[in-house]
Amino acid sequence: MKILITGISGFIGSNLAEYFLDLGHDVIGIDNFNDYYDVSLKRLNAEDVKKRGGKIIEADLNAPLSDLLPSDVDYIFHLAAQPGIAAHVTLEEYVQNNIFATQNLLDWTLARARNLKLFVNIATSSVYGKEATLPEDAEPRPISYYGTTKLAAEQLVLGLVRTGQLKACSFRCFSVYGPRERPEKLYTKLIRSIYEKTSFPLYQGSEHHSRSFTYVGDIVEGLTSVIGKEVLCNGEIFNIGSDHEHTTGDGIRLIERIIGMKAVIDHIPPRRGDQLRTAAIIGKAKRVLGYLPRTDLESGLREQVRWYREKFLD
Ligand SMILES: NC(=O)c1ccc[n+]([C@@H]2O[C@H](COP(=O)([O-])OP(=O)(O)OC[C@H]3O[C@@H](n4cnc5c(N)ncnc54)[C@H](O)[C@@H]3O)[C@@H](O)[C@H]2O)c1
Repeated sequence: MKILITGISGFIGSNLAEYFLDLGHDVIGIDNFNDYYDVSLKRLNAEDVKKRGGKIIEADLNAPLSDLLPSDVDYIFHLAAQPGIAAHVTLEEYVQNNIFATQNLLDWTLARARNLKLFVNIATSSVYGKEATLPEDAEPRPISYYGTTKLAAEQLVLGLVRTGQLKACSFRCFSVYGPRERPEKLYTKLIRSIYEKTSFPLYQGSEHHSRSFTYVGDIVEGLTSVIGKEVLCNGEIFNIGSDHEHTTGDGIRLIERIIGMKAVIDHIPPRRGDQLRTAAIIGKAKRVLGYLPRTDLESGLREQVRWYREKFLD
């Protein structure tokens, strides 16, 4: 099978690419290697993907895509996006990378990808708003540019299903962590600050925020479970994430225990647009896709610490 992955050099995209490559599939990806976070980390991810036989096109999804991407793909997994809730990222950047880039890819898909079995959109629990504790048919109430633009992207994809032009589904992922987690996210930042003996900036009150922290391997299993289930998936939205909740404080204590050292916490003002609680309601994904996240937080965090040590310390 031939699989196109957008955002292939990022955290989740590179893990997904390796999964398909290990199964012997043909994987081609596109990534613009933007500098939202340290580009050398994306280069490291890309090298790992290439070593396993993946091909990577370095280009922006907003560019003319006509002859850039292979038209004989069976599946498209669309992960490229401006992720995160960051004060320094402008609305224009969210709109450009989440809305316009998605529409440009969709235009290319309709014009070129004649053999496509399914377009798989990657959305986020941030579309639900302050509390992401609801099933897929609840009214989305995003409170950040990120959540709003990702919701718009999801609707651009599903709109084409409604008009019968595309077979597609969308996954709303919940708080993903694990090897290659982005450096500005909780665990990679925390692990690094402990090993480098620097202070860890913690948004005031966030230690009590509750999250469906989900191991990246369990996200990859959820995304790939669509293969062969195109008819069941077409037009559907699925929440995927762990159905166990932990507070950020629990996560910090676990990391301290695994590493055997304490973090030096520096409390900083709360972040605008942050969610108070996320709890993945995954009954639909369980029922339709047989989805079953299996990695408990401690085992997943041990893997992430092992990855960090191997890449950056040993
Ligand atoms: N990490 C999470 O916890 C999480 C949770 C929910 C949803 N998601 C979604 O999963 C997807 C992947 O997230 P991630 O955490 O791996 O982020 P990431 O930033 O590590 O990966 C995204 C990749 O897309 C690339 N990219 C961005 N804009 C592009 C453009 N215009 N053209 C080409 N490439 C572009 C970036 O260079 C990056 O390598 C995103 O769609 C995100 O919204 C992530």
